[in-house]
Amino acid sequence: MTPTNSPAPQSAENPPADPQALLVWYDRHRRSLPWRAPAGSRADPYRVWLSEIMLQQTTVQAVKPYYERFLARFPDVESLAEAPQDAVMQAWAGLGYYSRARNLHACAKVVADDHGGRFPADEDALRALPGIGTYTAAAVAAIAFDIPAAAVDGNVERVVSRLIALEELLPGAKPRIRTVTQAMVPQERAGDFAQAMMDLGATICTPKRPACALCPWMADCTARREGLQESFPRKAKKAPREVRHGAAFVAERADGAVLLRTRPSSGLLGGMAEVPGSDWRADYPLSQAILDAPCEARWRRLPGIVRHVFTHFPLELTIFHARLDRHAQAPDGMRFSAAEELAEEALPSVMRKVLVHALPGWDAPAVAKAAKRGAAAEKGAGKKK
Ligand code: ADE
Repeated sequence: MTPTNSPAPQSAENPPADPQALLVWYDRHRRSLPWRAPAGSRADPYRVWLSEIMLQQTTVQAVKPYYERFLARFPDVESLAEAPQDAVMQAWAGLGYYSRARNLHACAKVVADDHGGRFPADEDALRALPGIGTYTAAAVAAIAFDIPAAAVDGNVERVVSRLIALEELLPGAKPRIRTVTQAMVPQERAGDFAQAMMDLGATICTPKRPACALCPWMADCTARREGLQESFPRKAKKAPREVRHGAAFVAERADGAVLLRTRPSSGLLGGMAEVPGSDWRADYPLSQAILDAPCEARWRRLPGIVRHVFTHFPLELTIFHARLDRHAQAPDGMRFSAAEELAEEALPSVMRKVLVHALPGWDAPAVAKAAKRGAAAEKGAGKKK
């Protein structure tokens, strides 16, 4: 913050609220989260980075168990850099947005190989690393290194747009929100400020029914003064998402092994395991399904449908099942996964749902739980709590 007896720098905005008031509130009400350092100490950059990547598009509640397990398996950047890609994808399975896991791995390798195993204490250098965008670079710079960077995520957008009753629509309003946030970032305790903004957005300045009476910035908040807090941020209307359809084929060998393949390494669910299936299209004709089967067999169409909601589209899959001879060979590019190893495969939530649907009794409680956890974790942006 600018000291009171010196003029505000010409280029900076006047901050709409006092960051110190927020820090006082944070000292009393901060959430205890597994990636947070105890009050007054700085967190390990590896842990901060890992948590920030996991928290992109995913709720705090959903991330917690994944974070703990992932950290137990890969306790530092070197162990992650040296791990095989499959092991990383498997530890990530269920968190969704699998390109994040591939970038996470790539980033660990760059930090280990090019930065001597240390994350750079510089916002621009952080942003140059794989998978680290503007928000994550700022969050890691602030939280791990106390650099006065403005970490603006959906929560912060909501807080700031309410503070100044910003009429401009998101996403166009982002640069303005960033400038206003930057004006409030204090020179000291920038990491606490970033986390205080996140906590305020998650616990007080919530999308619905914000608890304004408990907010340290209540008196500063223009939207609150006008009684319009719930109507901010203003957002541009999104185009409706079209449902896609497809077929998935569960081929079960007599010994219980199931036919799988690995998705291409880039794109949706890149590098994850799946049962073979068709493309997913808005106009997929079910009459074509049998042509998409991976091998000749007595395919039986199962009753019901498997539904899954990705960020950009909902998906409805029709499931076919066939039993294969115990000597059946996997077609080119595919493999059989033994019954007892199936649960350990890097299967995204949608594929776990497919298997539960097709294989009654297959590790049902554990798999259903994982699918539920994964579905919660894979929920779209703006669902952070
Ligand atoms: N959301 C994104 N990053 C977070 C963090 N470090 N703490 C709590 N919520 C978050």
